[in-house]
Amino acid sequence: MKKIAVYPGTFDPITYGHIDVVERSLKIVDKIIIAVSGFQRKNFLFSVEERVKLIKEVFKDKKEVEVESFDGLLVDYLKKKNVKIVIRGLRAISDFDYEFQMVLVNRKLMKDIETIFLMPREEFFYISSSIVKEIVKLNGNISCFVPKNVEVALREKIKGGNNAKSEKKTFKK
Ligand code: COA
Repeated sequence: MKKIAVYPGTFDPITYGHIDVVERSLKIVDKIIIAVSGFQRKNFLFSVEERVKLIKEVFKDKKEVEVESFDGLLVDYLKKKNVKIVIRGLRAISDFDYEFQMVLVNRKLMKDIETIFLMPREEFFYISSSIVKEIVKLNGNISCFVPKNVEVALREKIKGGNNAKSEKKTFKK
């Protein structure tokens, strides 16, 4: 029987850290479904459709990687997909409290879920999507943090889009 896992997250946008976690997961499971949460808990830069599209482009040659969005609770999505394995990346001790809370809450909501934590390569330990966005805003080089398609999309969004305008407004005296 094929082992399938769901890797949920917001992926705003996907970074090499996430990609590393996907590649590691594929050593353990046969197929991974990257589930992009559309739930508006954060202020997203990319729409859920844009985030899904960027991830699909990254994994276009990997047939064992599926990419989808989901809206409600993670446990409902898992039930719908009939998947009981969740993958999460664990970068530092600071991730632990939140991840621990999430595992316990999800387990309360659906008792037969197992969460596997994978540690990305050391050079990706300190990356987060927010940091990558900040570097772009400050004209830094992000080519070592995100794939080319994501870099292009970030620059277009941040430099060419409404974000740049609204930031100017905020800081105007
Ligand atoms: N490499 C680099 N960065 C990583 C990373 C890795 N391996 N793993 C996580 N990150 C970063 C992300 O980029 C993100 O950075 P940001 O905050 O700067 O955007 C941050 O760590 C958080 O990661 P993410 O995996 O997106 O977690 P999240 O807390 O935003 O989302 C969900 C977690 C979507 C899985 C969770 O909120 C969820 O299940 N939502 C559905 C609703 C639900 O069921 N709620 C009850 C759950 S308890």
